[in-house]
Amino acid sequence: MQALTVHPLQAKSAEVSSVPDPNPGEGSILVRGRLLGVCGTDIDIVGGNYGWSPEGTDRLILGHESFGEVLEAPTDSGFSPGDLVVGIVRRPDPVPCSACAVNAWDFCDNGEYTERGIKSRHGYGSQHWRVEPEFAIRVDASLGDAAVLVEPTSVVAKAWEQTEILGRRTPRPARTVLVTGAGPIGLLAALLGHQRGLDVHVFDQMASGTKPELVKQLGATYHYGTIAELKVRPDIVIECTGYGPLVFDLPNIVAPDGIICLTGISSGSHALSQDPSAINKELVLQNTVVFGSVNASRDNYLQAASALAKADIRWLSKLISRRVPLSRALDALDRQADDVKVVIDLTA
Ligand code: BGC
Repeated sequence: MQALTVHPLQAKSAEVSSVPDPNPGEGSILVRGRLLGVCGTDIDIVGGNYGWSPEGTDRLILGHESFGEVLEAPTDSGFSPGDLVVGIVRRPDPVPCSACAVNAWDFCDNGEYTERGIKSRHGYGSQHWRVEPEFAIRVDASLGDAAVLVEPTSVVAKAWEQTEILGRRTPRPARTVLVTGAGPIGLLAALLGHQRGLDVHVFDQMASGTKPELVKQLGATYHYGTIAELKVRPDIVIECTGYGPLVFDLPNIVAPDGIICLTGISSGSHALSQDPSAINKELVLQNTVVFGSVNASRDNYLQAASALAKADIRWLSKLISRRVPLSRALDALDRQADDVKVVIDLTA
């Protein structure tokens, strides 16, 4: 079968080539891949900055944003041929740590977890893939191609879940959320904020184009320019750019008792232009919480699938801005200005 593979930590090593059929050890469910979403992590891996190949091989099948159709499943698996599924990314560490022991692999504390298509396990970027029943999420056919958004939505579902847990420390309910970054993660974070009945604001750099349009169509307010000029004092910030200098401006704009949830990372380094003592003072005197959130639990995938099922399917479909056949998958890894979510069609 054909697959998109990469030699981790070696830039320009990505290629589409023939690989052996998936190993039955990867799971009893055999899936025909339909779509594979591309995200910043994949671009980072392809750029030679991140990623680990499985033990005993130097190439990794890329891809963790999956969507496919079940071809074969054991009768006691709860799945049948024809079911539409998304695979979970992370697997618990083998020790296991106290978090992985209770399937909270997204809180793995010894770093020995593995991730499909990222860390020491082949991903979902192949014509066929296998998955264990307990790491498969059934999706409704009515979602159509938007099912490929379940994985990125699971990441923001966790971010919102944790934000809400932290929000319980203050009596005043949150009313306003600012999402920084109008990429797929930012737009999906905005969608979940909107579904919670909050006043949603999204900040990005683009003055016009698909992203500002999508924000408006969601019923949220779009802002661009500099963060210091922003007229909103959000109770919650969901940071989705990973741009360090912006992160350190956020304590100055969040409301008292606010929560800043960081979901993005970026390669490259930047010097701190703010005074660290002033940031410290601001955080203490305003009761501000700043926290990071990564990956997702099985529950977060289920929350994601149900959030997407409630969303306007026409809006979700517009998030998929470019579709590239597997044979030309390298084009999908080459970012274009107005890209939102680029997907690889594993059937073409
Ligand atoms: C994935 C997460 C993963 C993280 C770090 C993200 O792109 O969506 O599932 O945990 O990368 O590897």
